[in-house]
Formats: sequence, structure tokens, C-alpha cells
Amino acid sequence: GGNGGSQQVSLGFEAIPTTDANDITVPAGYTASVFLPWGTPVTGSYPAFDLQANNTGSDQEQQVGMHHDGMHYFPIDVNEGGNSSIEGLLVINHEYIDKDAVHPNGPTYDDRGNRPFDEVRKEIAAHGVTVAHIRRDTNGQWDLVHGSAYNRRVTGGTPMELSGPVRGSAKVVTPYSPNGTRTRGTLNNCSMGPTPWNTYLTAEENWHGYFVSRDNPLPKELSRAGVKAESRYDWELADNRAEEYVRFDATSTGESANEDYRYEPNSFGFMVEIDPFAPESTPKKRTALGKFGHEGVIFAPATDGQPVVCYSGDDRRFEYIYKFVSAQPYFADTADGSLLDSGTLYVARFNDDGSGEWLPLSMDDAGFVQKMENAVGTPVGEIQFDGPFINQADLLLNTRLAADIAGATPMDRPEWGAIDPVTGEVYFTLTNNSQRTEDQTNAANPIAENRNGHIIRWKEAGDEYTATSFDWDIYVFGGDAGTQTVVGDNVVVELDETNIFNSPDGLWFDNDRRLWIQTDGRWGEPFGNNMMLAANPDTREIKRFLVGPSNCEVTGVVTTPDQTSMFLGIQHPVAWPAGSAEGHPRSSVVVVTRADGGVIGA
Ligand code: FEO
Ligand code: CA
Ligand code: CA
Ligand code: CA
Repeated sequence: GGNGGSQQVSLGFEAIPTTDANDITVPAGYTASVFLPWGTPVTGSYPAFDLQANNTGSDQEQQVGMHHDGMHYFPIDVNEGGNSSIEGLLVINHEYIDKDAVHPNGPTYDDRGNRPFDEVRKEIAAHGVTVAHIRRDTNGQWDLVHGSAYNRRVTGGTPMELSGPVRGSAKVVTPYSPNGTRTRGTLNNCSMGPTPWNTYLTAEENWHGYFVSRDNPLPKELSRAGVKAESRYDWELADNRAEEYVRFDATSTGESANEDYRYEPNSFGFMVEIDPFAPESTPKKRTALGKFGHEGVIFAPATDGQPVVCYSGDDRRFEYIYKFVSAQPYFADTADGSLLDSGTLYVARFNDDGSGEWLPLSMDDAGFVQKMENAVGTPVGEIQFDGPFINQADLLLNTRLAADIAGATPMDRPEWGAIDPVTGEVYFTLTNNSQRTEDQTNAANPIAENRNGHIIRWKEAGDEYTATSFDWDIYVFGGDAGTQTVVGDNVVVELDETNIFNSPDGLWFDNDRRLWIQTDGRWGEPFGNNMMLAANPDTREIKRFLVGPSNCEVTGVVTTPDQTSMFLGIQHPVAWPAGSAEGHPRSSVVVVTRADGGVIGA
């Protein structure tokens, strides 16, 4: 907790207008430059990027992945007490791929419908995470540190440990891991969260689209998630039928025991911990934080002797916001990821009177167990709930279903969270939900066919992050000029040409409490391209800071500790940075600096 408003928030730049220019547009006095675009050689033998996308799967395993999303800058101690603003590890998520851009002429199929296995290898390698050791030279230019032992690619094929209650469950046994302790790869890494012990948690969002199952009926672990008989990229159709590709077919009648990957999808949909300072370390899937379409995670400030608390949204229409509270207390000297292996997972209920409750999803909670037993034999959403969860692992593998049973509030697509470092208020973007009908509205999601989204925030009871109740309000509604956010009888925000936006997605508080809002929504009139705005949490002043190139979303943002360099992500452009005639489009990091060397946004 704290004393709200004690620290003035400065937004000293001139707001820029909307634009549909196929470029990065920033305020006067600022510069934006492309850094570490898709395909940049980053490790191994540093294979050069081919502008026409002729690189192999092996090349891609040594190059920056595609579709940059959440990212974080970890300073390296260069005589600055671990707070260097000129040298660090930039860790970048790669959410998915543009299958037409990743190959010279798009994906190919043979006459039997199978795919060349090296195309599949390349697509898997374009997913995951990049760890890039970067340094700012005396001219102010950021460069990759060539040959650094920290440089690393984690891909959709990297060996991983399962950790927490799901580890060792019969429901994650595969031919690859007969004891259910390991899996391969992290997929659809959208946003992330740095932990209080200086590691990186990457989120697995739309994991379901990578798998197929032709089982009928589907097990509830797959049906509630949306797994279908077709996959997004057809990796299971690799023409060499190698086990590392066949595993994406989860149909239970595999042709042999070696192909029985019915439980493979059960090891995706988690928060995955990577220690960027230990390049040989095996990433760990922290299953106690739940399995759903994890957008990202935001940790509350950690206090010695208190549990660790973090929040995570499930970005799908009518899904939920979750909170995890560790069983063990945090101590800065000894804290590590094992704190995330035991604790209580809660889901949020937003009451119409502005109060809210955290509902435990725990087989040790008598209230939850009673609700679960009452639900047996009844429809829960579209699922016939035919039997109770047998243990916490079973519950976690069905987190969404457990949250349905608990009575959580279905939200308008929860994306990123951010915590005000002074007031302790937790903000979450609710990006949009065009499918909410009038009779499905509630006070926290009050707009039918919500096409513009809004940002909600709450304060935990007693200023304790471990509290089981909170008070919430809506910070701002997105929309066209004239869109109002009203508190009581007061219009607290009315959007105008300096700040109209739709579909808030990325969200981040910098060290000076500027709230950065990034959009992933409709482009064209009146909004122009997707953008990033900066906001004052106290006054709700909002100003447009940056507009991205055509068709992109702007996602992922962090600064150096001194706030003079900002890194952000440009995802899925169609003709940028080179222009479509000169090469394939490339998602990229963009570095923003000020000509006068000042703090970004101040
Ligand atoms: Fe990947 Fe929910 O944005
Ligand atoms: Ca995206
Ligand atoms: Ca997002
Ligand atoms: Ca989005």
C-alpha cells in the first residue's frame, strides 16, 4: 500500500496525432530504431538472415524468433550495483508466426497433404523466447554482444521440466516422459513477468491451436480449451513422421504406443520460468499458477516474511482473472522459483457494488469442494461435469472449469496487468468482447458488444496483496472522440484526438508511475494504426506517444533502469521494416531514445 498521488507523474511530451503511416511515429525530440528483428542471428554459428526467408530450420534455431511480444530488460552489473542501463539481457517472447512470411512462398504440402519436416522445424523454432545480451556503445547505439554465453534461443522444442502439483500426474505421461515430469517446448508466448528473484516467466496463451484430437467426445481438458480436429500450422503432418512432430496429434488411438501423445497438450498452458543468467538451465513450467490462456503475469512487490503474490489474466472472451499466493514466505536472500510450486490459486469475482472476492480453487478448501460436489452431474458451461476432480493436479489441468464452478466473473478478455508502485492498485486491460450480449453485462463488463475495451483496477482489502477481497473501479473506457468515463456524477475522462484508442492490451508502470498502454485492435478511421499511450494514474490524463506501422500491434514494453532507453515490440507488420517489395515483413524490437538523453515520456 501507500499514499496515492504523493508523487507527481510527468507526461512532458507533445501528444502525437493518429496516423496510418507505415512507420514508427514518435513525438518531437524522440528517435525510434529497429533492433533485433525476426531472423537476426543470435547464437550458435550466427547464420545470416536471408531477406527472402530461405533460412533453414537449423538456422532459425540460432536466430531471433518471429512475432515479438512481451519482453523484459535484466540489467547486468557493470559497476552499477546490478542496475546497468548500458548492458543487460533483453528477453523477448515470440508469440506465433506469419506462416506466409516465414517461408519463401508460404507453407507447402505434398500430394498426400504432408508438410516438409524442415518447414515444421523452422516454424517450431520461430516460436518461444530469445535471450539477447545487449550493450549500448559510446554513440548511444544498442548492439547484440556477439558470442556471449548468455545469448540463447528457447523454442517450441526445448526440453522443459514440469514443476508443481501437475508434475508426475498420470495425465501428463507421454512416450517422451513416462513418469510425467518433462515435456518439450513453450508455445504462443504472449506476455511475461519478471519475478522478484530476477528470472523470467513466459506465458503460454493460445496453446490449444497447436494440437489436434479426433477423439469424440473430447476429454474435458481439451474441449474446454478449444482443441479441434485441425491445427493452426499442421505440425503433426510433418512428412518424416518424427516423434517430435507426431506429438502434436493428441488423438488417443495413436498408431503405436510410441505415438500415444493423448496427454501432450496437458503440458501446455502454463507460466514457464526461464533463468536468463543460467543459459544451460532447463525451463520449468510452474503448474500451480494454473493452466489456461495465460496472457502474462504481474508480481506484487515482494516483502521479506510475506507470501509471494502474482496475478494472471486468461485472454479469451468470458474468461477470468487469477491470483496466486505462495504457501511459503519470501526472503530476498533465498527466494527462487520453488515458491511458485505450492500455494493457493484464486479466481476473481467482481460484484456489481464495486466490491470483489478472490475465490480459492483448491481441493483443500471446503467451500470449493462443496461447490464441486454440487456440480457433479450438471452442465458447467458447455461441459457435462461427470465427476469430481481427483486431486489438485486434476483441478489445475481443468483450471477454467474449476473457475466456472467457483463462480468467477466472465470478463472481456483479460490481457496485461500492472501494479501502481505507489498506491498498490492493480490494473488490468480488458481488450474487447464483441460477443457479450446485453443480458450478459455486469458492472465490471458493462458494455454489450464491447468493441473498444476498457481498463479495470482494484485495491486489495487492507492494502494486503494476500487479501481475499478488494474494491474495484474502471480506470478508462476505450473508444472514439467523446467517449466518457464517469465516476459518480463526474466525467473523469473524455477522449479526444490526442488519446482515442481501442483494444488496450500491453500495460506497464515505469519507475515514475507513468502507465504505458499499448493497443491491439481495429485500425483505420478514426484510430489510425495501433499505438502506445502514456497515462497518469492519479489524474487519468492520457496522451498518445507512439504509433506503429500498418496492420501491426504494439506489444511489449520496458525501459532501462535510468529510463533513457525504451524497448517495445512491433508484432505482425505486413510491409515493414523493409517494405514488402524488398523482403518479408519482420516483427521487431524498437528502441526509443531522446535526442537530449532524457527520461522517456517525462
Ligand atoms: Fe496474445 Fe492476448 O494477446
Ligand atoms: Ca498478438
Ligand atoms: Ca496481448
Ligand atoms: Ca491482444
